[in-house]
Amino acid sequence: MEYKNLVNGEWVSSEKVIKINSPINNEEIGTIPAMTKEEADNAIKTAKIALKKWKNLAVVERAKYLYKAADILERDKDIIGNILAKEVSKGIKAAIGEVVRTADLIRYSAEEGLRTVGEIVEGGSFEAASKNKIAMVRREPMGLILAIAPFNYPVNLSASKIAPALIGGNVVLFKPPTQGAISSLLLVKAFYEAGIPAGVINTVTGRGSEIGDYLIEHPMVDFVNFTGSTGVGKRIGELAGMRPILLELGGKDGAIVAEDADLEKTAKDIVSGAFSYSGQRCTAIKRVLVVEEVADKLVQLIKIEVEKLKVGDPFENADITPLIDNKSADFIETLIKDALDKGAKALTPVKREGNLLWPVLFDEVTLDMQIAWEEPFGPILPIIRVKDVEEAIEICNTSEYGLQTSVFTRDIMRAFDIAKRLEVGTVQINNKTQRGPDNFPFLGIKGSGVGVQGIKYSIESMTKIKSIVIDW
Ligand code: NAP
Ligand code: G3H
Repeated sequence: MEYKNLVNGEWVSSEKVIKINSPINNEEIGTIPAMTKEEADNAIKTAKIALKKWKNLAVVERAKYLYKAADILERDKDIIGNILAKEVSKGIKAAIGEVVRTADLIRYSAEEGLRTVGEIVEGGSFEAASKNKIAMVRREPMGLILAIAPFNYPVNLSASKIAPALIGGNVVLFKPPTQGAISSLLLVKAFYEAGIPAGVINTVTGRGSEIGDYLIEHPMVDFVNFTGSTGVGKRIGELAGMRPILLELGGKDGAIVAEDADLEKTAKDIVSGAFSYSGQRCTAIKRVLVVEEVADKLVQLIKIEVEKLKVGDPFENADITPLIDNKSADFIETLIKDALDKGAKALTPVKREGNLLWPVLFDEVTLDMQIAWEEPFGPILPIIRVKDVEEAIEICNTSEYGLQTSVFTRDIMRAFDIAKRLEVGTVQINNKTQRGPDNFPFLGIKGSGVGVQGIKYSIESMTKIKSIVIDW
């Protein structure tokens, strides 16, 4: 199947194509165009033309397209879910779930757009003479949003940029992840079928390493909304210049387990947080920091849960499925080797077949090991034993990342105190780290990002304030 880009309301191909194979069995799923810079220029120009009409539509009119697109996605959830499962090796139930979650996100974006109102600010607070002034504070679209999404949620993390951008009156130039592009294009097809006006969403497929810099530096792009690795995020920061950006990047989310935690529940939450979609989530629990006093018990409980994980085929809903590519599996192998060389204790067999890695649980991980600090993006969980919660907080705060941390304790006041001191965007109390629900603010600090997502926050991020002042 030859997939095409949507440009100015037409599906267009390019001379060069990229083959998309399934990470499950290497089966070819289809081809996507490798767009040239000239073709991308054309997509950008037509988007800018479409902006004039789109931003002037009443928000209720824009919302109608979003509602229709959401219904189409939900109607096609099995077809899109099947391709998604094949394309990024995601469990079929989770893949269909991603499509449904996305339809809900699009509907909520439409509703939130209807609720986005400005404000009136009264004068008179600084000098008496200004008492007859008022400022009308309005929100206006940024213009052309460049949306770049990662492979692990090619439908949901794409829509989490596209839908809030559109309802805010922006037009979108969407660069899908190469592995995941077919699923992303099917998302865009739902907007197309909903009748979205030509040019309001244009897509640009092609390798980020080849076309990415060109798009980011393009003078007609007004805002870059990116989710992906910290390395690429840093580069976007350098290239974007004075233009506003939103970056959601990597993480090394820790789970701090205090001596008074409910250990049975904690173990279950940690394992599901660490290993769902084989650990390929920015919000996966990527290290456990457990107080020595309860470490033996917790480790034993986690091991029991890890041993229950099913390894294999996404279409049989295995928990651990082939990783996105061999390169990722190679990288994780280097982390495993480093940990073993430095004395970590593997509590589960270390086993690999191609890009399929069995889940690895490491105990007695020390701070000189790479796995204590680096983001593996795979099914590997290190346990670091600490003398007390203070030490755990210090280790968490030493990370280059600042996405989320989980705190497990029965003492709620203590949980709030720990939460206050953690340098992350979100603290989860007695639960695994996670992005949803999609109306919550979602953000990373330090190496984990810049700016805030979450439907209302995304609309705010991708609109700018205009203040109109009048004396009356
Ligand atoms: P990635 O390699 O950084 O790629 C992300 C996107 O950027 C892809 O569309 C990629 O295109 C594109 N890209 C690559 N090089 C580019 C460049 N020079 N300029 C512009 N775009 C470029 O990340 P990934 O492997 O897809 O995803 C895994 C990473 O994303 C992990 O670090 C994970 O933690 C992070 N992530 C963070 C969040 C969050 O919300 N905080 C969510 C999900 C994932 P190609 O596919 O064509 O290379
Ligand atoms: O990979 C990063 C995603 O933002 C994680 O989303 O916590 O809903 O799996 P999730």
